[in-house]
Amino acid sequence: MKDGAHQIVPTFERIAVIGLGYIGLPTAAALATNGLDVTGVDVNTRTVESVNRGEVPFVEPDLGVAVSGAVAQGRLRASTEVPEADVYIVAVPTPFTEGHKADLSYIRSATEALAPKLRGDELIILESTSPPGTTRQMADWVRELRPDLTLAGDAADGRGVGFVHCPERVLPGRVMIEIVTNDRIIGGLTPGVAELAADLYRVFCQGEMIITDAATAELSKLVENSYRDVNIAFANELSVICDKLGMDVWELIRMANHHPRVNILQPGPGVGGHCIAVDPWFIVSAAPEEARIIRAAREINDAKPHHVVERVLARAERFKNPRIACLGLAFKANIDDLRESPAIEIVELLADALPDVTLDAVEPHVEKLPDRLAGRDNVVLTPAAEAVEAADIVLLLVDHDAFGSISRTQLADKVVYDTRGFWR
Ligand SMILES: NC(=O)c1ccc[n+]([C@@H]2O[C@H](COP(=O)([O-])OP(=O)(O)OC[C@H]3O[C@@H](n4cnc5c(N)ncnc54)[C@H](O)[C@@H]3O)[C@@H](O)[C@H]2O)c1
Repeated sequence: MKDGAHQIVPTFERIAVIGLGYIGLPTAAALATNGLDVTGVDVNTRTVESVNRGEVPFVEPDLGVAVSGAVAQGRLRASTEVPEADVYIVAVPTPFTEGHKADLSYIRSATEALAPKLRGDELIILESTSPPGTTRQMADWVRELRPDLTLAGDAADGRGVGFVHCPERVLPGRVMIEIVTNDRIIGGLTPGVAELAADLYRVFCQGEMIITDAATAELSKLVENSYRDVNIAFANELSVICDKLGMDVWELIRMANHHPRVNILQPGPGVGGHCIAVDPWFIVSAAPEEARIIRAAREINDAKPHHVVERVLARAERFKNPRIACLGLAFKANIDDLRESPAIEIVELLADALPDVTLDAVEPHVEKLPDRLAGRDNVVLTPAAEAVEAADIVLLLVDHDAFGSISRTQLADKVVYDTRGFWR
């Protein structure tokens, strides 16, 4: 254990982290490099094997050093089996189903896997982004699976298995910094257990520990991402209004932001990623009648790729058989993450609408086309310079720094549609 101000209560010696992805593995590594005994659990045997070799199965700066060091010191190991532990941290996926409802099946499976190992005094921490009530649902599942156990809150002295929700707000690419510096919202299902969890997080986290109840912690994470989504939707709606009125949205927003209390975000081709494009739906499904702005924002942002496609098709009409360079596939600038990317949706819709037109998809951060685009005859992964050179229409979808090398001279005789205001 690390020397210093933060002392952990002695019962927390063995930690099991269930789900070794972008969130679980950094958490496991942070705990292990600060002296705790950590077993990471994953259903994916390749992930388990790679962690046991001291390797990280995805790209995240500084995580490799932490994992290889902790494995070499014998403090971190991975398994497909859930071990006995004092604390279980669950960081499995929470995607949404067709009807925009949260898919809690991964949390249910993790709960079923850990329940047989419980002895009665463990702490279970849910880190997966979840709709309000999920931590309570987990406790109810444990109660069904282990009626022999007392859960914290059942007994007057507060003893028993404790449940806590502690959401994650780390930014991919800066996870190993932010996991230490970010404040943590820690919501206990019963009073007292959140304080215990705060002691655990203090082992590696220097941020403030903000104690609350589990449902408030769950909703706070969803609200943070909905706040971003609503503000982006406002900018996207302005861009559609400006297109209709024949006005310049970038200039409009620049002017409005001169007001001392106005700070409008920049529009784009839509909203992607697995957080902002997903989490607001969990609020909508929890309160469908009431979550009106949140739902409208999701719909506005989801409609933006279709608006971009319509505008490109209108520009394509003036050519007999245009060639189109689509710059960027990632969901935001300077990353290789393609999840829920509006850029991919736009290229896909264009490929369907213009089957005889060649679309040069440019994404400097990947080596092959994603599954949704691979196998289409009219979509080709092409280097930026080559795609721009051959293009009649240049469609900028992602503001990657790498596209800064494209000069105005190269664009001079092209029709340019810049969804990000990159060349303003
Ligand atoms: N990645 C982020 O930036 C981020 C940020 C904040 C919150 N979150 C949330 O954290 C949670 C995890 O996200 P992630 O990005 O780490 O996901 P991920 O897909 O990178 O990793 C999840 C891991 O869980 C494993 N898994 C699935 N079911 C399992 C089970 N039953 N038992 C053991 N392992 C299992 C998968 O094999 C995978 O390795 C999600 O709820 C997500 O919304 C993610």
